Amino acid sequence: MKWKVEETPTQKESRLKDVDQSRDLAPGDKPDRLFSQPLSFEEIKEKSDKFLVNNIKRAPVAFYFGQGEYLYDTENKRYLDFLSGVAVTSLGHGDADFVEALREQADRVIHTSNLFYNQELALLAEALVSYSFPGRAFLCNSGTEANEAAFKLARLHGQKKGNANRIVTLENSFHGRTVAGMSMTGQAKIHKGFGPLLDHMHYITPNDADMLEKEIDQNGHEMCALVLELIQGEGGVRPLDLEYVRLARKLTQENDILLILDEIQTGMGRTGKLFAYEHFGIIPDAMTLAKALGNGFPVGAMVIAEKHCDLIHPGVHGTTFGGSHLAARVAYETLKIIVTRDLLDNVAALSDYFFRRLQSAQTTIKCIKEVRGMGLHIGIELDRPGAGVVETCRDRGLLVNCTAETTIRLVPPLNLSLESAAEGLEILEGVLRELK
Ligand SMILES: Cc1ncc(COP(=O)(O)O)c(C=O)c1O
Repeated sequence: MKWKVEETPTQKESRLKDVDQSRDLAPGDKPDRLFSQPLSFEEIKEKSDKFLVNNIKRAPVAFYFGQGEYLYDTENKRYLDFLSGVAVTSLGHGDADFVEALREQADRVIHTSNLFYNQELALLAEALVSYSFPGRAFLCNSGTEANEAAFKLARLHGQKKGNANRIVTLENSFHGRTVAGMSMTGQAKIHKGFGPLLDHMHYITPNDADMLEKEIDQNGHEMCALVLELIQGEGGVRPLDLEYVRLARKLTQENDILLILDEIQTGMGRTGKLFAYEHFGIIPDAMTLAKALGNGFPVGAMVIAEKHCDLIHPGVHGTTFGGSHLAARVAYETLKIIVTRDLLDNVAALSDYFFRRLQSAQTTIKCIKEVRGMGLHIGIELDRPGAGVVETCRDRGLLVNCTAETTIRLVPPLNLSLESAAEGLEILEGVLRELK
């Protein structure tokens, strides 16, 4: 099953004209007619600070409306969104086709449980498999849950292989916050306070081919899986080398070890291919997805290659919410929009623009040490902590974030326009240029 690019430039123009006019705001318009009683920012902050579990430091802003690549806060200030809810809302905000599918499905049926067949889930699984590799899909609700499923798959493979429980991941990786997600994550700061975590976990240095070879040579018989992010997202937008990934594929294949790719941040077109592994000329044994899969609606998935599908049979894993009619429908619609509007083409063109402009900025802006990434998954390594840059950009109407202390991360929507890309880079370069 495959879709065709459906949209000609004329059709695109007419689609944009047809967009619900009530969402079509001119800069400076206040869309308050949509909200009968919006709280002020102070009220939102007061309630949040009093009643929410204090697990995260929030920036002093609350959004209440989004349109395309723009968000509006409670003071009606407009922001250009280069963060996309941390690589999630890849179609931007309020996409008419996406919202229509969500509304239509919510109206018809939202959830019936996995005790029954479900058309939307069947179609989504077919689409995910058709666009990745032959196999089967499992649907859940978040990235960490997808990795939890992958962890169980790995251990099942290890049992079949013969008490091979060792799972190897990379230092500086991030795989989520559940116990298995944390255990797979190669960062002491994420583990701190929760030990003892799961055992038979081991972390190796990214892009160190000798270490990888040595690890598999010595411990391959005990290993059930090698888990990789092809670009370490939370770890500072650090891509793995092509040769390293190919070597990893070769050695895992030779030693009956599952190669599991965490494509939670890199998947669904973010890097210019639907899945990042396509850049590396390899096929994994399994991959996990979440983030942009539902364009903001919580959906996670694990896709397993055909050869390993019989590891999972009724009773070994499950979920109440995963793959509900609504979740499956929005994920299906998101994938369909990415393909039929040829958004990967837009990612390639914009990526070229971002990298050329940022690399040229690097020659004159002293605090930029390196520009890394792929597609619209971009990291700007600074010679100092980036929190202040994020704050000043936000004050000037641009949303970005900082990961791994010193990396400014840009993950704008895949359908960003060239004009908006230029607008955002103008702000960012201005802020970086002013740094002493
Ligand atoms: C590569 C990767 N894996 C897993 C996760 C965890 O996903 P979630 O926050 O949906 O549980 C993230 C989240 O940032 C991620 O970037």
